[in-house]
Amino acid sequence: MNKKRIFFTGGSGKAGRHVIPYLLDQGHRVLNVDLVPLNHPGVDNLIADITDSGQIFNAMSSYAGLDELELEYGVPQFDAVVHFAAIPRILIKPDNETFRVNTLGTYNVIEAAVKLGIKKIIIASSETTYGICFSAGKTNPKSLPLEEDYDVDPMDSYGLSKVVNEQTARSFQRRSGFDIYALRIGNVIEPHEYQQLFPYYFNHPEVRRRNAFCYIDARDLGQIVDLGLKKDGLGYQVFNAGNDHNGAVIPSNELAEKYFPNVPVSRELGEHEALFSNRKIREILGFKEQHNWRKYVKWD
Ligand SMILES: NC(=O)c1ccc[n+]([C@@H]2O[C@H](COP(=O)([O-])OP(=O)(O)OC[C@H]3O[C@@H](n4cnc5c(N)ncnc54)[C@H](O)[C@@H]3O)[C@@H](O)[C@H]2O)c1
Repeated sequence: MNKKRIFFTGGSGKAGRHVIPYLLDQGHRVLNVDLVPLNHPGVDNLIADITDSGQIFNAMSSYAGLDELELEYGVPQFDAVVHFAAIPRILIKPDNETFRVNTLGTYNVIEAAVKLGIKKIIIASSETTYGICFSAGKTNPKSLPLEEDYDVDPMDSYGLSKVVNEQTARSFQRRSGFDIYALRIGNVIEPHEYQQLFPYYFNHPEVRRRNAFCYIDARDLGQIVDLGLKKDGLGYQVFNAGNDHNGAVIPSNELAEKYFPNVPVSRELGEHEALFSNRKIREILGFKEQHNWRKYVKWD
């Protein structure tokens, strides 16, 4: 079934407000479950807190909107859960609160989905699991490009919460046999941010070292989520969710040499191929980038 009834958490945020419209455009029905509503035509909203298991079980076994009261067979089951709600980095809340909301919230969402028999679950993990982004001091990855089989080892509470969430997903997948895909999302860029941010990044490449120069266009992230919803039978999977190229003008090999000297490069890289590799989503999900930064920023 291609058009799905989707339970989407955290859809009012930076990423979700672009991913949900993409999913609606593909014909899906989306219930956004968040602490604040998303004001977008065609989306249903329900205010609920992911850290409260009762609220999440209740919301996930509920009508998505008033129109569903007309259905004669009662409340339909959601076909899929997309879980984005989180505290999205360190230093918004105290470290322990970030860890609590992200890990408990993710446990609650996945547990409810599995126990209610929803066989497709996609969760937002993060590039920060690779342990460079929020580490103290200037740390190096063990190798480049960053690929999904890397031994992730963050030293901050946010990155750690995402590693724990991946383990939670893996555990519930093993118990259920359902499909649970974790997207290690790169630095999300909204359409208006290319002009706003990229010229500064290109003049000061060092500020992007912590992100390994990655970015994901918020609309391309919508495509990745949709492809994950459509691709069944993969069990537990981790996917880097990034764009094809670095968010930098310097070619990849030079970037690696200049900003990550002495870090082994494990395979040959294309001229601008992302150091935060998206090879797996291209090969397994069929991702085809639509929004390379070069479409939006002219730079020699
Ligand atoms: N923005 C990025 O660059 C980036 C990078 C990697 C991963 N991620 C992950 O992607 C997801 C979305 O990130 P974002 O940038 O849109 O974050 P965001 O903070 O803009 O949006 C998160 C949403 O979650 C909601 N939320 C927070 N706590 C909640 C709770 N207890 N119950 C219900 N809803 C709650 C918020 O109201 C918000 O609308 C997050 O899981 C984040 O960790 C984001």
